[in-house]
Order: sequence, then C-alpha cells, then structure tokens
Amino acid sequence: MDKYVSEAVIRRLPKYYRKLEELEARGVERISSSELSAEMELNASQIRRDFNCFGGFGQQGYGYQVKKLKNELYHILGLDQTYRCAIIGAGNIGRALLLYKGFGAKGFHMDAIFDINPELIGQQMEGVTIRSMFDFDTYVKEHQINVGIICTPSNTAQEICDKFSALGVRAIWNFAPCELKGPEWMCIENVHLSDSLYTLAYRVNNE
Ligand code: NAI
Repeated sequence: MDKYVSEAVIRRLPKYYRKLEELEARGVERISSSELSAEMELNASQIRRDFNCFGGFGQQGYGYQVKKLKNELYHILGLDQTYRCAIIGAGNIGRALLLYKGFGAKGFHMDAIFDINPELIGQQMEGVTIRSMFDFDTYVKEHQINVGIICTPSNTAQEICDKFSALGVRAIWNFAPCELKGPEWMCIENVHLSDSLYTLAYRVNNE
C-alpha cells in the first residue's frame, strides 16, 4: 500500500463503501470500473487510481468482485474495529446521535453522554444515563473512550476538545460550528450539515 493517501481519496472511500453495500444488496456480484464509474458519476481512471493507492483490487478484463471489494474497504476504513464514543452535550444533536441505532451496527458504540445542565443530568435515554461533566475524566479513562463527539455550543467546543486531548483521545467528531485545533496525533472531523444545505440552495437556484 502507498504510504501517502490524499485527503480527496480518503473522502471518496466511504462513498465507494456505501455504493458497494448498495450493489451487494441489489445482488450485483461483479462490476467493471466503467460500470462503477457510471453508478458513481466518477471517472473510471480516477476509480482505478484510487484503488491502486491500496494495491488495486480489480483484474484486467474482469472488473471488481463486489463483496470482496466491499470487505477490503471495510477493513481499510477501520470499520472492523470497535469504537467507544462519548457524546458531550445532551441537546438536540447529542440526543439524535445517541438514539440512532445505525452507528452501533457499524461498531461505533455511543457509550456515554455528558452535559452541564443539572436538569438533564441523571436522565436516562435508551439505557444511557446523562452524566455530569464532573465525571468526565474518570469515565473516559476507565471506559477507554476513543472517540469524542462534541455537540455543545461553539464557545465551549475547543475547551472540550482540549479535555479529550489531555486524556489521549485521538478521534473527535465535532458538530459545533467552529474549526477545532488539536495536537498532530489527533484526528478532528468537523461536520457542517449547513454546508450541504447551502449547496442545495445554490443548486436549486442556479441549475
Ligand atoms: P442544544 O442547545 O439543544 O444542546 C447543547 C447542549 O450542550 C445543552 O444541553 C447544554 O447544556 C450542553 N452544554 C453546553 N455547554 C456545555 C459544556 N461545557 N459541557 C457539556 N455540555 C455543555 O444544541 P443543539 O441543537 O443540540 O446543537 C448543538 C451544537 O451543534 C451547537 O453548537 C449547534 O450550533 C451545532 N449544530 C451543528 C450542526 C452541524 O451541521 N454540524 C447542525 C445543527 C446544530
């Protein structure tokens, strides 16, 4: 496998994985790069180059075996691992993420949810108790939390990110509308649903 994989390729991997899941569900067993290209509205040579970053999975004149390629991407994406997640902020977004069953099915376990609001602390949701931030350090250490999910207002998000960093948590999924900074070893993924919504607004007004 090549040592360096570009950000653009990394961003396409989940899309390939999703498409392959869909193809498998449709009963497709084999697909050529040009057929995959038509399905994904991506250039066939781009697809081949992307897969070549990981050694390439196709066979000249045969294409890709859907199930095999899906399993390879599952492994490459790290979906074969278990992730223990702690959500900070038990508001609208935090609760929605906790309640969504699909993440657990893919190995992302929403183990805990924290808040500072005394009215929320102690409440139960799907068997998970909303905890006080006073318990944060101890819980994260004792339960080997390896993903921090930030769902608080942006003025507290960096401070929370720093708390995770101090405990050695490497992965941050940030929903607060700000760009967080962390040490080099930390992976921070900022989610901006509004970007997608604004893109939709642009397209509906310009296409
Ligand atoms: P919310 O107000 O319903 O919930 C925020 C929760 O964070 C509250 O329960 C509050 O008590 C808690 N909180 C505040 N400071 C805290 C701290 N220091 N430690 C622990 N908990 C703390 O807000 P909502 O609607 O759930 O939104 C959460 C965040 O997500 C906001 O920053 C919002 O702007 C953002 N957002 C992001 C979107 C995206 O596309 N990424 C879409 C919508 C909202």
